[in-house]
Amino acid sequence: MRILITTNYEEMSIEAAKIVAGQIYLKPASVLGLATGSTPLKMYENLIAVHKTIGLDFSQVTTFNLDEYIGLSADNPQSYHYFMYENFFKQINIRRENIFIPDGTAEDIFAESKNYDALIESKGGIDLQILGIGQNAHIGFNEPDIKFEATTHKVKLDDETISANSRFFKNVDEVPKFAISMGIKNIMLARRVVLLANGKNKAAAVYKALCGSVTPEAPASILQLHQDATFILDKEAAADLPQDLK
Ligand code: PGA
Repeated sequence: MRILITTNYEEMSIEAAKIVAGQIYLKPASVLGLATGSTPLKMYENLIAVHKTIGLDFSQVTTFNLDEYIGLSADNPQSYHYFMYENFFKQINIRRENIFIPDGTAEDIFAESKNYDALIESKGGIDLQILGIGQNAHIGFNEPDIKFEATTHKVKLDDETISANSRFFKNVDEVPKFAISMGIKNIMLARRVVLLANGKNKAAAVYKALCGSVTPEAPASILQLHQDATFILDKEAAADLPQDLK
């Protein structure tokens, strides 16, 4: 486990973009696992800038997003499809057919989940997985639970997640109650994982992930067992860590 503590959100985002860009330079046909939310936004901005200024080439890159709300179609501005196209895909030269996001409108979410797992496998697995972390230490939409869900699955969202994400909706009642998410095994099978966290509201979750027991009650704690995981934190998100980890 590597821990990189940066001064602020901007620096965290630059360090994350450097890792993604490096991955693509070294392996142009990389398979990336991508995250939504406020945290990775500036990393995407930086990658778009690298694409526009020095031509970082996404033409052979394949992407798999972690999750999607159930019931939101791709043209719904609150959907993660919409988020990814607006904030990233529209502004780089990735091919439409190389973009994969779980379909939250699928009639049969179980079949969609199985299909998503099979697609990841058919592309040779994920080279680099980008993660955010929830205030409850979720990764993707793997909420605290009594067991780890291995593969892509339907999730009932925690009240804490619904409340945290309500800032993107008109009101809390509009936040979908269910989502489809990659599972912990999908994430753990990624050859490299980079988790980003900024802000003091993430400090407790980061502490649990890095210093707590490995438990499905704090899903990010499983990353302690990953062979190549890096946490890129800003000072505030790292605030609760013991001195020897800083
Ligand atoms: P955020 O979400 O980046 O919007 O804080 C992170 C997450 O819930 O995984």
